[in-house]
Amino acid sequence: MRLSQSRIQAITTQMGSARILVLGDIMIDRYLYGTVSRISPEAPVPVVDIQRETIALGGAANVAANIAALGETPLLVSVVGADSSAETFRQALANSEIASDMLIVDSSRQTTMKTRVIGESQQIVRADREDRHEIGGEIQGQVLKLVSSKLDSAKALIISDYGKGVLTKSLLKEVIALANSKGIFIAVDPKETHFMNYSDVSVITPNHHEASFAIGKRILNEEVLLEVGSELMTRLRLKSLLITRGKDGMTLFEADGSSSVHSHTNFPTVARRVFDVTGAGDTVIASFVSAVSAGATLKEATIISNCAAGITIGELGAATVSCEAIATELIRLSDTTAG
Ligand SMILES: Nc1ncnc2c1ncn2[C@@H]1O[C@H](COP(=O)(O)OP(=O)(O)OP(=O)(O)O)[C@@H](O)[C@H]1O
Ligand SMILES: [Mg+2]
Repeated sequence: MRLSQSRIQAITTQMGSARILVLGDIMIDRYLYGTVSRISPEAPVPVVDIQRETIALGGAANVAANIAALGETPLLVSVVGADSSAETFRQALANSEIASDMLIVDSSRQTTMKTRVIGESQQIVRADREDRHEIGGEIQGQVLKLVSSKLDSAKALIISDYGKGVLTKSLLKEVIALANSKGIFIAVDPKETHFMNYSDVSVITPNHHEASFAIGKRILNEEVLLEVGSELMTRLRLKSLLITRGKDGMTLFEADGSSSVHSHTNFPTVARRVFDVTGAGDTVIASFVSAVSAGATLKEATIISNCAAGITIGELGAATVSCEAIATELIRLSDTTAG
């Protein structure tokens, strides 16, 4: 399936005017770069002379960064600790022009920070600071209140579940019910272990490993893929399901009016250079939801998100992409295939 030039223009020019609520686990990806000239006298490890430090938004915050890069306004709701990493995080949000006033502080947890030390362009160690326990009832209440006060002004809700504890079973249930009662489009980037708590949403975007795990069947061929997809659609009463399949592209399942029939469509990746697939899933869900918010059908949104992911994996790190870049790439692709 291909998009006509007029559809590409119509959708991508509409993108960039919505407020999209992003709820989930945020992370900070911190990179320390340096040189190595000696081994430590304390232990058989290299000593890295740090010369440069970079901070990147990760998890739900990377979804928000992708939303912002598309020109939309992300409303990022999450939980951070009462620590210096939370300050670093707020500053990083400010640098990306993302509002940080919807972060709830829970002093019982640490703000997730993953620090990589890179010496002479080799990653030497990764040191993680994080808590994975579920947020307590009081914090859940604050999250729910905030979501409910922001949802009316939002066009869609993205739930970005990295399994760090913000999304508890009961919070998921309440947030999904609330968004459904307001008729808001709900997209979930799932964590394997929470699958059965995402019932009744508009779309879930697992990769093939996560989908396999949820149903307990390894996706080895097209036949099993269809079984897994149908089973997820039925069990979770989904409106749609987008299984991302790395180099094999994506498969979109859609509910037909009659409940037990699901149509599916395959979208192959567009061959291009692959530098870094980090964060591809975040780009997929952000661009899919942005396209739907701009009036795209689910199939059109899949083409757009497939193209967006293709662009970001051609860049180093968890990259983001603009609507203009997506439009240019889609037009280039349609020209190439036509010629
Ligand atoms: N090696 C690849 N070649 C071409 N396209 C790719 C490749 N890897 C990923 N993509 C594109 O990115 C999309 C999402 O990738 P993938 O299925 O790996 O998601 P994911 O595992 O959720 O990613 P993440 O690591 O960000 O969670 C794919 O559907 C495809 O469009
Ligand atoms: Mg993923």
